[in-house]
Amino acid sequence: MRILVVGGGGREHAIIKKLKENPSVTEIFALPGNGGIAKDATCVDIGAKDIDKITEFAAANAVDYAVVAPDDPLVLGCVDALEAKGIPCFGPRANAAIIEGSKVFSKNLMKKYGIPTAAYEVFTDMDAALTYLETAPIPTVIKADGLALGKGVIIAMTRDEAKDAVRSMMADKVFGKSGDQIVIEEFLTGPEVSVLSFTDGKTVVPMISSMDHKRAGDNDTGLNTGGMGTVAPNPYYTDEIAAECMEKIFLPTIAAMNAEGRTFKGCLYFGLMLTPNGPKVIEYNCRFGDPETQVVLPLLESDLLTVMQATTNGTLAETEVKFADKNACCVIMASKGYPTAYEKGFEMTIPEAVWNNVYVAGASLKEGKLLTNGGRVLGATAIADSLEKAIEGAYEMVKTIHFDNAYYRNDIGAKALKAGRN
Ligand code: AMP
Ligand code: GLY
Repeated sequence: MRILVVGGGGREHAIIKKLKENPSVTEIFALPGNGGIAKDATCVDIGAKDIDKITEFAAANAVDYAVVAPDDPLVLGCVDALEAKGIPCFGPRANAAIIEGSKVFSKNLMKKYGIPTAAYEVFTDMDAALTYLETAPIPTVIKADGLALGKGVIIAMTRDEAKDAVRSMMADKVFGKSGDQIVIEEFLTGPEVSVLSFTDGKTVVPMISSMDHKRAGDNDTGLNTGGMGTVAPNPYYTDEIAAECMEKIFLPTIAAMNAEGRTFKGCLYFGLMLTPNGPKVIEYNCRFGDPETQVVLPLLESDLLTVMQATTNGTLAETEVKFADKNACCVIMASKGYPTAYEKGFEMTIPEAVWNNVYVAGASLKEGKLLTNGGRVLGATAIADSLEKAIEGAYEMVKTIHFDNAYYRNDIGAKALKAGRN
């Protein structure tokens, strides 16, 4: 089997490492991949958003199966384009990827089908939004409609902050067309849980739950990032809550997408908040999370390729999806200064002994040397029988990896550990 993976971050590295466990996989192409992924796959210098070149490459290189991992190509119709060339894919078509591509779409979907989420209003007119904010409950949450590199959400603690956010999205267009429409929604509180799921449009199989750490600094301080670390499972997500989410959120979402003629196949990511009034959807993603994937897939005991193909073929109900009864912790090593300004080009040393547990997010390969090439550089994942040991293991690994200006949080998993003890 010749597999193509679209994308080039730590998530894609985790997907590739897992796919390689299947002996029928003879070749994996990563488009574009990165300097670290190059150790595990053939990297091809084609950008993840260059749909024409991706499909051309796939057709010319006898690719048997494609995995489209990032949000942008999914929303742009990469799966549709590959399928048109006869290449089966893991991932939703554009008409279903809209569940992440448009917050207005996903909020309206949840309202129409009674799926619990924060109360909200949609605005296409800036003055109307500003007038609404005169009396809206504070804190409030302002969201750009479209994709915004994960930065399109502002939690406003004051009325002025909320108005500034609206102006920056709708007048200054800091997120471009993504700010043509905005959602202003109720501020919710409670622990957050990420639940990734496999679905073939009929059956939905939740993966092991996880917890992201989005802020740059220890104790959840500093700016929001793409994620500084993860643990799985998430101790807040009890069996009872999981059953409630299946009944009130997961199954209704799959049914709603079918009813809208937008059958979703692939990985549907439920970003949940466990509020005092029950679990609510904070966001849907049409793809694997990053860095959630770096703790979830290492715990998958079933064959990833088989499960992915079952989502494509509609045979998920008959396919085993089993996770280890263990804990995983991933600590992200970033470049100092991330998520704002940072330097890159520093040589990285990753001991061979830990390579299997390292997922490279941002690196380039120059004359055989691995150099840092991004804000998030890599993630190190440890698996153990307890969360405490997994955290310890991940930090031990991080201490053996070196590059100048490396930065990581020191408290990944600390909140989960505390919750688990209560
Ligand atoms: P998102 O990009 O949708 O994942 O949002 C980023 C983060 O903003 C989430 O992980 C939450 O921590 C927070 N957030 C989003 N919506 C709300 C909300 N309605 N209430 C409170 N926090 C929120
Ligand atoms: N870790 C959050 C995301 O992938 O969107």
